[in-house]
Amino acid sequence: MDSFAMESSSFLEKMICRILLLIILTSCVSGSFVVNVTQTSYQAEENHNITLEWTFTTKPDRSSKTLNILCEHFISDKLSVLFHVHEGVEVSESQDAKFSGRVQSDKDALREGRIRLQLSRLRTDDSGLYLCEVNTDYGFSSARCRVSVSGAESRNKNYWDQVKIVLGVLESALLIVSGMIVLIIVAVQGLVQSFRKHKIGGPLLK
Ligand SMILES: *[C@@H]1O[C@H](CO)[C@@H](O)[C@H](O)[C@H]1NC(C)=O
Ligand SMILES: *[C@@H]1O[C@H](CO)[C@@H](O)[C@H](O)[C@H]1NC(C)=O
Repeated sequence: MDSFAMESSSFLEKMICRILLLIILTSCVSGSFVVNVTQTSYQAEENHNITLEWTFTTKPDRSSKTLNILCEHFISDKLSVLFHVHEGVEVSESQDAKFSGRVQSDKDALREGRIRLQLSRLRTDDSGLYLCEVNTDYGFSSARCRVSVSGAESRNKNYWDQVKIVLGVLESALLIVSGMIVLIIVAVQGLVQSFRKHKIGGPLLK
């Protein structure tokens, strides 16, 4: 029992050491290489276009031959490739069919360390997480952003919901106003009647 406890504690120590070493190593490597997103979340409408953008550390002395990029879209548990660069060359064959003809990459920006992907004719199922991994001979890193595409139906639904709310407010305003008009009429009638009574009854009382 004791030896088992000792064994498992030394195993734990070893694991902690390994994890610490891994953290130190990755922070050393990634300290000189980063991938950033210029925007962490995008909101767009169906059939519109958006431009997703990532930036990564560049080294002027390195050839583009060492550049590897993989950008993927995640929705629920499904993964599809949006953009793939292998040794500096775009591999369009890797792209998922659902993105076919809808992704435009900016080659000039890519040379400056910017991954600019224009995604056109947005569909609601383009919503989800977009992750770009960049792998070079001087480092590896990744960054993600979130895209939310709202459908035209939901926009129309929102519009009708708003119209319904406005109509509801108008209806209650109308009810209140007509109620007040009825009250005023009743009050005026009461006043007129009591005025008449006074006029008739006044001199009689004297
Ligand atoms: C979206 O992109 C396509 C192709 O790049 C272009 O023809 C179209 O005018 C763009 N639409 C909008 C709304 O920006
Ligand atoms: C990434 O973001 C950090 C913090 O905003 C910035 O200092 C750095 O220059 C950026 N690097 C790249 C390559 O965009």
